Amino acid sequence: MTEKMKNIVILISGAGSNMAALIKTAQEDNWDGLLGARVVAVISNKPGAEGMALAQALGVPTQVLDHKGFASRAAFDAALQTLIDAHQPALVVLAGFMRILTPDFVAHYAGRLVNIHPSLLPAFTGLNTHRRAIEAGCTVAGATVHKVTAALDHGDILAQAVVPVLPCDSAETLAARVLVQEHLIYPQAIKALLQVL
Ligand code: GAR
Repeated sequence: MTEKMKNIVILISGAGSNMAALIKTAQEDNWDGLLGARVVAVISNKPGAEGMALAQALGVPTQVLDHKGFASRAAFDAALQTLIDAHQPALVVLAGFMRILTPDFVAHYAGRLVNIHPSLLPAFTGLNTHRRAIEAGCTVAGATVHKVTAALDHGDILAQAVVPVLPCDSAETLAARVLVQEHLIYPQAIKALLQVL
C-alpha cells in the first residue's frame, strides 16, 4: 500500500455493539489490505464502558478520558481532540458516544466525523427515540448514519435503515430490531466514505 494508511478512531460511551460490528467487518473484509484502512483506537468517556473489553478482545487498543475530570465541555473536548489527533485519523466514528460536542471540536473534524442515530432523521433527534416513535404512532422506525455538524443529529445523511414498528412493541423491542440494522448499515456506510476520503 503506497498511500497513507487511513486510521479510524472510534468513540464510545457504552455497550459498544456498533463499534464491535465495525471492527469485525473491517477485520473480516480485510479493509487493511483492500482499503488501506484500520481501526487504531477506541476511546471512551466512561471508565466502565462495557465496550472497552470488547474492543480489547478484538485486538484494538483502548483509552479512557473521563469527562468528569474536566471543568467545562470545551476543556474536555480540547483534551479529547489531542488524544484523537495523536492517531492521525482519516475518520472519527461516533458509536454510541453520548456527548454533545462543541462547535470547535466538530469544525476540527469537518467531513471526517460520522455518527449513527437510532431514528429516521430528521425525525426524532435527541434521546428516547424509540419511545417517542411508538408514542407518535409511527408504523416504521430505523437508524441513520450521518456526517456530524454543530447542530445535534443533523448533517448529510449517508445511510438509513427502516424497520416496522409492531403493535406489541416496547421501546426495548423496537431498539433491538433497529440495532440489528445499525450493525449492518454503519460498517457499509463507513466503507463507502473511506473510498472517497
Ligand atoms: C445505538 O443504538 C446508537 O444508535 C445510539 O446509541 C446506541 C449505542 O449502542 N446512539 C445515540 O443515541 C446517539 N445519539 P452501542 O453502544 O451498542 O453501539
